[in-house]
Amino acid sequence: MAIAFAAPVAIAADAPEVVQTVCSACHGVDGNSVAPTFPKLAGLQAAYLEKQMREFLSGKRKNEIMDASLPALKSADLTVVAAYYAEQKPAGGTVSDEKLAAAGKVLFDDGNTTSGVPACSGCHLPTGAGNERYPRLAGQHATYTAAQIQAFKAGTRTNDKARVMRAVAARLTDEEIAAVAEYIAGL
Ligand code: HEC
Ligand code: HEC
Repeated sequence: MAIAFAAPVAIAADAPEVVQTVCSACHGVDGNSVAPTFPKLAGLQAAYLEKQMREFLSGKRKNEIMDASLPALKSADLTVVAAYYAEQKPAGGTVSDEKLAAAGKVLFDDGNTTSGVPACSGCHLPTGAGNERYPRLAGQHATYTAAQIQAFKAGTRTNDKARVMRAVAARLTDEEIAAVAEYIAGL
């Protein structure tokens, strides 16, 4: 269940310069983006964030919108940027369809034994907080989460080691993707 906290006032002075001048436009200075197509970065694991940035740079992960920031990423200290966003407090997300979220919870916690979908919680943890190996999902915008799962399913996102997420996503229906993304937003 998402708890609404008053938005903390971001202390912009603490943020690395590239965050203030470039990244904050989309991801927020405190990593809590407002637009649902721009992922929240606050509280995601530093190792995961750094991996993604390096893979945008190498072309292993591709996205037209992020690609415009590649020159900025190239000249930034990615370890510092990743550590900064990892330390920010994640703002809770919002669930707009409780019924959909309830269906998503079943899939998240137990998977789908009929179609062979493993429980998301087995890797991303029941709270969705993740750990050093699996990224935090909790509180992420449902629009972004669903788009990433669809990208793994379509094979347009291929930077998951050992095809872990592509194997999971291939077995998910569009309805299951929408449901699990809605549930994750409220974690
Ligand atoms: C114009 C908007 C925009 C700007 C500016 C921007 N990003 Fe992004 N960022 C995005 C979008 C959109 C995605 C999702 C890409 C996708 O769908 O694969 C993303 C994804 C990411 C991700 C992956 C998140 C995840 O959960 O996997 C990281 C890390 C990231 N951006 C860091 C940065 C950093 C650091 C900067 C500044 C140098 C930056 N971004 C600037 C829009 C932006
Ligand atoms: C066997 C472990 C495993 C299972 C099970 C698993 N995941 Fe993942 N997931 C991963 C890994 C590893 C990544 C990071 C891939 C990368 O490095 O880009 C990931 C990434 C993701 C992302 C992208 C996050 C972002 O910020 O872009 C989403 C969304 C996601 N998983 C959702 C799910 C859902 C929903 C389920 C259940 C239906 C699930 N995962 C089951 C291992 C797993």
